[in-house]
Amino acid sequence: MPQVTVTEQLLIHQKASPMATGRFTRLLNELILAAKIISREVNKAGLVNVLGFTGETNIQGEKVKKLDEFANSVLIHRLQRSGLLCAMSSEENADLIEIPDNLKQGDYILIFDPLDGSSNIDVNVSIGTIFSILRRTGENGPVTLDEVLQKGSEQVAAGYFLYGTSTMMVYSTGDGVHGFTLDPSVGEFLLSHPDIKIPEQGKIYSVNEGYWDYWDKPTREIVSYFKSPANQRKKPYSMRYIGSLVSDFHRNLFYGGIFLYPRDTRDPRLASGKLRLLCEANPLAFIVEQAGGLAIDGKNRILDIEPHELHQRVPLFIGSKNDVQKVREIYGGD
Ligand code: AHG
Ligand code: MN
Ligand code: MN
Repeated sequence: MPQVTVTEQLLIHQKASPMATGRFTRLLNELILAAKIISREVNKAGLVNVLGFTGETNIQGEKVKKLDEFANSVLIHRLQRSGLLCAMSSEENADLIEIPDNLKQGDYILIFDPLDGSSNIDVNVSIGTIFSILRRTGENGPVTLDEVLQKGSEQVAAGYFLYGTSTMMVYSTGDGVHGFTLDPSVGEFLLSHPDIKIPEQGKIYSVNEGYWDYWDKPTREIVSYFKSPANQRKKPYSMRYIGSLVSDFHRNLFYGGIFLYPRDTRDPRLASGKLRLLCEANPLAFIVEQAGGLAIDGKNRILDIEPHELHQRVPLFIGSKNDVQKVREIYGGD
């Protein structure tokens, strides 16, 4: 069977849509190229560390950036020249990233977490890049913050690149979820997981249980529920927690399960949880719903939340339908 590349699949999709201009396909292709560059650097990060090249300069006398800074600048520099965007927002940048006046503007907005799970870089554990694509709502001219602060349900596409044992791309344009695996020998992402569906009933729960003492009563009740042999599964769920949202999410997407990052009282800045609505929760919520799962903040659907700031944090419960519904029930939702 001939192997379909991600570009071929995008072109097939483009042809099926009479309104398509090819701009969206080009945008995803730019993103894919940036991810291949990041993947290459991630793959040699351990080697660089072993050889002690992580100081200020490398052997060519160039500054060696931390990998998350590197990923951020690759994405910004490549994508701002694409002519397809009117603004970007990155987890690493406090403000909106505007497209310089001398460069062509487009009508898409890209929001991303350049390297998710970056605390795992030094120990060779899977990390990823998460992205969300919106279309601007206004006409030409400078983008306003309001145009970027759209609900997750307005996303035209979302996905992630996972730098794991293989590099994968998982994305959706609202027409199912598709997974591609990078074949490094040809440098192409090949369709490896068409039409991904998350099992309705999970068997894994993923949470940082170290924060137990900082949780409220219903949150403890929820986690106790998943550990209990008297739950809907009739046996305890397995606990798996990598500490890279994208990797924990990816595993649960295939095996079935729930990822939880509740609010806690550890730090007033985490009063609404740790994860970011725009660059982490929304894109993964878009993916999980397209795969048949759910994502809520405890009571409300993540994709229905009206954002009011770029770096807004949100409690996140995401994964298999039955498991997320159980969380909603315990928190007193519908
Ligand atoms: P990032 O590396 O982009 O800052 O995100 C880290 C996030 C997320 O990937 C992960 O799920 C979570 O932090 C882990 O947090 P804890 O260490 O508090 O469990
Ligand atoms: Mn992150
Ligand atoms: Mn990050």
